[in-house]
Amino acid sequence: MLAGIRDILIISTPYDLPNFERLFGDGSQLGLKFTYKEQPSPDGLAQAFILGEEFIRNDDVCLVLGDNIFYGAGLQNILAKSVETVKEENKAVVFGYYVEDPERYGVAEVDKEGNVLSIEEKPQQPKSNYAVVGLYFYPNSVVEIAKNVKPSHRGELEITSVNHEYLVRKQLKLQTLSRGFAWLDTGTHEAMSEATEFVKAVEKRTGLKIACIEEIAYKMNYVDKASLDLLILEQGKSSYGVYLKKM
Ligand code: G1P
Repeated sequence: MLAGIRDILIISTPYDLPNFERLFGDGSQLGLKFTYKEQPSPDGLAQAFILGEEFIRNDDVCLVLGDNIFYGAGLQNILAKSVETVKEENKAVVFGYYVEDPERYGVAEVDKEGNVLSIEEKPQQPKSNYAVVGLYFYPNSVVEIAKNVKPSHRGELEITSVNHEYLVRKQLKLQTLSRGFAWLDTGTHEAMSEATEFVKAVEKRTGLKIACIEEIAYKMNYVDKASLDLLILEQGKSSYGVYLKKM
C-alpha cells in the first residue's frame, strides 16, 4: 500500500485462501482491489508469476511474502524509488539485509560499489551476511523468466533462480537496507515470537500502530473520511477501533 500499489493478488493454499477472502473481501473498503488465487501445492515462490500471469498482464510487478515484516524510517521512499527503477531502468530490484544466519535465506554477495556478484539460495557456506528479503520488484519479463525456471533440489521454483537470471542479464539491482531498519520474518515459532515482541514494544512506546491498513488507506487518500468512519464502526469498541478513531 505504501508503494502506491492498489491492485493486489493474494496467493495462498487452498485451505487458507478462503480465510483471507473472508477477512479482506474485494478490498474496496480500503480503496484497494483484491484478487485471490490458490497455489495448489507449495512449489516455490517463483510460481507466483505463473499463477499470476493473467493478473499481471503487461504490468511491472511487486512480490511480497506474507511472513516478512518490514519496519523502518524511509520505507515509503525506498518503495517509491524501487517502483521507479523498474519502470525507468527495466531492472529488477531486490533488498539485502545484514543477518546473523544468512544460510537460512537467499544470500547476495555485493562488491564495494553495490554491484551483485553472486546470489545463492540457502548456501551452506554463505559468501556474505546479506540475506535477500522477501520483497521483490520486477519488470514484466519476470513472467517469462519464471516459466523457464527449473525446480531446485528441494523441488521448488526458487525466487533466487529468477533473481539469478536478472543478474546474468545485468538487470539486477540490490539495495541494502540500513542497520537501523528492521526486517523480521515469522517463518519459525521463535521468529514469530520475536517479531511479536518487537511490534509490541514499538507500538506500546509510541502509541502508533505498525502496518494499520485502515490508517494507511486513509493517509494515502485511498479512502475518504466517510469510508474510514465505516471501517471504525466495524471495529466496534475494540482497542483497534479506539486507535482508528483517535488517529
Ligand atoms: C524464501 C526465499 C529466500 C528469502 C526468504 C525471505 O525462503 O526462498 O530466498 O531469503 O524467503 O524470507 P523460504 O521461505 O522459502 O525458506
